[in-house]
Parts: sequence; C-alpha cells; structure tokens
Amino acid sequence: MIEFLVHCGNPKCQQGLSCPKELMDKEVQCPKCGFLMLVTAGNIEGFAPGTRLGQYTVSTKIGEGSMGRVYEAVQDGLNRRVALKVLRGRFAKDPSYLKRFQREAQSAASLSHRNIVTVYEIVQDQGYYFFSMELVEGETLQTRLHREGRLKVREGLRYMVQAARGLSHSWEHKIIHRDIKPGNLMVTRDGALKIADLGLAKPIGMAGEKTTLIMGTPSYMSPEQARNLESVDIRADIYSLGATFYQAFTGQAPFVLNTIQEVITQLPQAALRPMRDLNPEIPPLLASVIEKMLARELEKRYQTPGELLQDLDQVRTVLSPGAGPKVETGPYEAIPPGAAEKSVVPGSGEGPSEQGTGNGPGAGPATPQPADSSGLAEEDATGRVPGAPRFPVWAVWLAGLIALAAVVAGMFWAA
Ligand SMILES: Nc1ncnc2c1ncn2[C@@H]1O[C@H](COP(=O)(O)OP(=O)(O)O)[C@@H](O)[C@H]1O
Ligand SMILES: [Mg+2]
Repeated sequence: MIEFLVHCGNPKCQQGLSCPKELMDKEVQCPKCGFLMLVTAGNIEGFAPGTRLGQYTVSTKIGEGSMGRVYEAVQDGLNRRVALKVLRGRFAKDPSYLKRFQREAQSAASLSHRNIVTVYEIVQDQGYYFFSMELVEGETLQTRLHREGRLKVREGLRYMVQAARGLSHSWEHKIIHRDIKPGNLMVTRDGALKIADLGLAKPIGMAGEKTTLIMGTPSYMSPEQARNLESVDIRADIYSLGATFYQAFTGQAPFVLNTIQEVITQLPQAALRPMRDLNPEIPPLLASVIEKMLARELEKRYQTPGELLQDLDQVRTVLSPGAGPKVETGPYEAIPPGAAEKSVVPGSGEGPSEQGTGNGPGAGPATPQPADSSGLAEEDATGRVPGAPRFPVWAVWLAGLIALAAVVAGMFWAA
C-alpha cells in the first residue's frame, strides 16, 4: 500500500505523518498536537518509510532531482539495499516520454562497470514508474565541492581517471551520457567514483501533450550539444567531464551559462581562464589536459576516453616523485591508505572494441586503442602508490638462484 510522508503543519510540532494515498486532498489531524491540515501534492514529501513498490520496501528519501525523488529501499528476497528513482507523476503520464525512458533505462541497465552506477531494473507498479539501482554510499561531487570548494590535486586526479574509465566503458557500448556534471558523479567514502544517470534523458517540462526533453546542463555543455541536443558523440561527454574537473580543481565552472541559447551564442567565442591562474597548485600538464578537453572545436578535443586516459597516465607519472620526467607539479597530498581503487583487472578489455562509434563524424579514434592502455589500472589494482619502488622480475630470479646456490654449497660443506 502506498503511504505518503507529510509533516505536521504546526511549526512547533512538525511531526512526520504517514498518510495512505486515499487521504490525498483530505484533512488529517496530527496525532501528536491535534493540528488539522490538508494533505496536498504540495506538502507531500514522498513515500513514507515502509511503502511497498514492486519488490521493494522504501526506507527513506535520499534525494530529489529533475526526474523525480530518489529513495533508499530494500529488495525482497535478496535483502539488498538499493536506490529507487521514481518518476514524477506528470512524466509517468506521458506515453512518448515513458517509451523513451524505458528504452534508455534498459540500455543503461546493460552496462556493468565499477565506475558506473549499476541500473538493476525498470518497474511499473500502482501507477508509478521507477528504476532500481546500486545504492551509492557517499555523496555527489557537487555536494563535496559545495562544502570544500575544490579538491586536492591527487584526489581529484584519481576521480578523473575513474570517470574517464566509466566513460570509456559506456562508449564501448555506444551509450553517451549527455549530462556529465558534478551532480551526476558520485564519490564514495573509500575513494571510488561512479557516474550516475547514464543515458537517461531529462524532462524539462511539458509542451502541449509531449514532454520536452533536455539532456545536459548549460554550464557543462559543449557547443555542439547545445546546437543539436540529440546528435552528439562521446566527445560531448569528454567536454562535460573537462568542465566538471575544471571546477573540481579550481572551485569554479569554466563558463557560467544559464541557457542553451547562451551556450550557442556565447560559448564558441568565450575566453577560457587558464586553470593555473585560479589554482597555481595544478600541474601544468594536468591543466593542459583539461583545457584540451574543453576545446570548443571538436577536432581539437580528445577524440576518445582512451586518448584521455593515456594523457592522464602521463600526468600521474609527472606527479609521482622519482618516476618519469621531473616537471613542476606544486604541492599535493599523499593518497590515503585504502583510498586506492579496488578490483581493477589489468587488460580486462575495457577499451573500445571497434573503430568509431558511428555517432558522428570523426567519432572514432584514428587507430583503435584500449582505453586502459594507460597502465593506470594495474597500478591502482595493486594499491601501489605511484612511484614506489618495484623489483623487476630478473632481480627476483637472481635472488632465488643465489639462495639455491647457497643451500647447495651448505649441503656439500656439511657432507
Ligand atoms: N544510486 C544512488 N545512490 C545514492 N544516492 C543517489 C543515487 N542516485 C541519486 N542519488 C541522490 O539523489 C539525488 C538526486 O539524484 P537525481 O535524481 O539523479 O538528480 P539530478 O536530476 O539532479 O541528476 C542525488 O543528488 C544524490 O544525492
Ligand atoms: Mg542525477
């Protein structure tokens, strides 16, 4: 049974009340203070804890976005904690939007990667449409930046590499995000980053019978995406990721744009403020990588996440003391123990499987290259701090041979 959560209208009480759906537009009395209040769509705060939806029991509301509310819930049988994103009523009534939503959620559900929030299933129950997904225990990058302004270079770089890996995987499956922004990157307490809302179109309002769709957020949107919202390729996501990390490292978005019209008219000519003017601690190489991601001309941008990962590998080399060429890097924090990414399988074939995506001119690389050819994965899988000494294989063999020779010599001596 659906129960809504409302709070008592008496400012001195504000008791949470669980109201069955049937009490909608009816008056209820607060059991605590006796205050009489009308239950309306305006004062409903979502489903009350305990509400059953499909095979899930709602625990609590954890967020609210453009598509609807997000709840933590428990899945029957598996006893698994999940996140449920429930579509707002007006979108759930629009057949053309629903069709598209279902198609896109299905394609998002086909992805499985540690840097992408996993979508489990799309469900319709009691007039509600929702999908269940992996519950991420953490916060969005947006919340983090709101609190702390910007990230330390090393931590930000770790997140950026993970985001690029997630993008690489979605590109391999020909899924374009179209709305990469700090609010859609989730970071966990143990240092993992997960891309949320992959492939899902966002409704912005109703134009007559049809829901108008928007994909993207102006301050993070590439010029070509603003010109044609539908027809973009992975390079639009690379631009948006650049804008996101420009902000993560400097504390401010590269361009503050409020409407799609502003993106079309102002962005192509707007001058990009060099990142190091805003934060001199950013290594020059990292700044140049992000500035290349933000190239307004498609051809000057990275063409694939694999290319980007290779350059990020260079940045990591520069940042690692004692490894690679010595370049001015500025101060940076050490990677805290346990913060290294987990379960990365070197050579797991995360790279694009074929040349080009067919999503637009020049969408594919000139030469196919594995996304993780950067070698970053191997370093992270071992949890090794980059630059830490590593013994080559021949040295291990030599040590073994010397030990064996010593044992044999000892035996002769004893005999
Ligand atoms: N899978 C998830 N796990 C945990 N929290 C989530 C998850 N997805 C979304 N959230 C939370 O819900 C909030 C709203 O998400 P969302 O509806 O995707 O917003 P938006 O439309 O702005 O992208 C997010 O800011 C986040 O805090
Ligand atoms: Mg989101």
